Amino acid sequence: MPTPHSTIDDLTRALEGVGYHAPRQLVTAVFLAMRLQRPLLLEGEPGVGKTELAKALAQVLGQPLLRLQCYDGMEQREALYEWNHAAQLLRMRAAQASATPEEIERDIYQARYLIRRPLLQALEAPAPGAVLLIDEVDRADEPFEAFLLEYLGEYQVSIPELGTVRAAAAPLTLLTSNRTRDLNDAVKRRCLYQWLDYPERERELAIVRSQVPQASTALTEQITQFVSRLRSQPFANAFQRSPGIAESVEWAKALVALDTLTLDPEVIQDTAGILFKQREDVAALQPLMDQLLEVQ
Ligand SMILES: Nc1ncnc2c1ncn2[C@@H]1O[C@H](COP(=O)(O)OP(=O)(O)O)[C@@H](O)[C@H]1O
Ligand SMILES: [Mg+2]
Repeated sequence: MPTPHSTIDDLTRALEGVGYHAPRQLVTAVFLAMRLQRPLLLEGEPGVGKTELAKALAQVLGQPLLRLQCYDGMEQREALYEWNHAAQLLRMRAAQASATPEEIERDIYQARYLIRRPLLQALEAPAPGAVLLIDEVDRADEPFEAFLLEYLGEYQVSIPELGTVRAAAAPLTLLTSNRTRDLNDAVKRRCLYQWLDYPERERELAIVRSQVPQASTALTEQITQFVSRLRSQPFANAFQRSPGIAESVEWAKALVALDTLTLDPEVIQDTAGILFKQREDVAALQPLMDQLLEVQ
């Protein structure tokens, strides 16, 4: 069926149209996830555009974005649904005089007393469906991953009181992981997989240019070159965490705010807290400064 994004090139351009610059391999993975109706697991360092991709896709497809931010100890009721106890209680009180306990029970376990959380909302979204982002799934625990299997494999979930809810239209489902731990094999098997790397310089240049147009061409080029050197060897070894795309964009904004025309050691040191979020990394920058700036 022809769609507005019937080729990988079309989809690439559409994403660029909403400000998301994606390499071909990533667009191919998204394209296949849509065609094969499979969830897509995106892994990569923080700040490389995993969450942003889901937002951009929802915009491009004109579909609602439903987002589930994972954390340790997250429970099903936050992901799927919970019963609206207050409304149920009111209903019970009102019905007590006239109905039998069985009638009341039947009455209060109906769909209208459900509070729908992102997974259920995604399953119930009318065609063409929703985009569901299960963000930072590596923060959730094993039982939660196990709970996801039914959804990921069949786009359905079971609600004991109501039965099985199946998706009318398979939601485009993206899971992201910062890889703080390895995910369950069963989850991985149900997903297509894509690793997001730091961007090539040209792509990062395009991103910074489009998000911080006030920065001069010369400054933008210096920023992307500097950051890309920070991420490459031998420098990367000196830091616990390299800056992501988000940091490059923030840095460019900060440098513009400081009226910086060209990078120099002093302004880099003064703004190092934007590139690095650890004291040790900020400290490690100083001794490398001359080498980092050498080839610019
Ligand atoms: N491919 C991209 N195109 C445009 N902007 C991007 C891209 N990747 C990252 N960004 C920028 O970086 C920011 C952080 O990205 P984000 O998706 O939050 O990273 P992650 O979820 O991987 O930690 C975004 O808000 C966006 O401004
Ligand atoms: Mg994210």
